[in-house]
Amino acid sequence: MSLINVKVSKVTHEAEGVRSFLLRKTGLFKLPAYEPGAHIDVHCGEGIIRQYSLCGDPSDRNHYLIAVKQVECSRGGSDLMHLSVQQGDRLEIGSPRNNFPLDLNASHTVLLAGGIGITPIIAMADHLQTLGRSFELHYFSRGQEHTAFRKRLLSGSFAARVSIFEGLDVIETKQKLSAILESPKRQTQVYICGPGPFMETTENLALDKIPASDVKLERFGTNLAVASGPTAPFRVELARTGTTLDVGAEETILDVLEAHGIDAAFSCEQGVCGTCVTRVLEGEPDHRDSFLSPKQRRANQRICLCVSRSKSPKLVLEL
Ligand code: FES
Repeated sequence: MSLINVKVSKVTHEAEGVRSFLLRKTGLFKLPAYEPGAHIDVHCGEGIIRQYSLCGDPSDRNHYLIAVKQVECSRGGSDLMHLSVQQGDRLEIGSPRNNFPLDLNASHTVLLAGGIGITPIIAMADHLQTLGRSFELHYFSRGQEHTAFRKRLLSGSFAARVSIFEGLDVIETKQKLSAILESPKRQTQVYICGPGPFMETTENLALDKIPASDVKLERFGTNLAVASGPTAPFRVELARTGTTLDVGAEETILDVLEAHGIDAAFSCEQGVCGTCVTRVLEGEPDHRDSFLSPKQRRANQRICLCVSRSKSPKLVLEL
């Protein structure tokens, strides 16, 4: 996919450890159109590519807005964006992709965000407001200083539909989410984005009340505890050629494919973006990504080649 050159036209402190970057086009052509929920690959420098949701105005084809949280266990991307990237710098980005599209057939939409998960959610709220749709937005953050886009949420055109919950503990958060999801209206759809534990709690509560097809999630950030779990060698067979390759304890499937000159699409290499997802024809994957849904994991028909491993001695992949 060809890359797009942009210039960082503004950097804003949005909350403790969160900076937004307004990226302006540099060429004659407008930036590619996108819909709420979309993200872009950002080439942060030093060969590191990270995915960030677009959280600005989709009708502004001259700019993209992203927000980046500096994470403690950064594998380089968020540190580079916070410590190296400055106003006036040039960056390369990919075209928008959308793994978290908004379905406009819902009679009511409940948007639930935790922490930096507000980024795709705020874009959805803007869009629903513009279209005059029925929706509500609930945003959970660790405290006021951690609430990104606070002013935009509380003084914007949809402020009356926004609830912000700051500084709740785990039990209080669960109680609040239970109350929000207690009596959903007919044909309600729920969109959830946030850190892993928030996603799990919210998804489970939502699935108690709402059909799974109406509960949509976007996961982000590597679950390091899972991604770095025990490793053991295994074997992969590539169904198209019958080639068999050994994956050592310290290698990923993607490493081994690359080492043998076999092309496989990838981007984040963190199990987040879904670019490397491949069909599994035989064997039981050991899922370590943050991209596939629990239902997709249970089905064991797809695997993220960049982080996931195998519980069975061999996996047969559609490659
Ligand atoms: Fe992003 Fe594997 S490359 S999930």
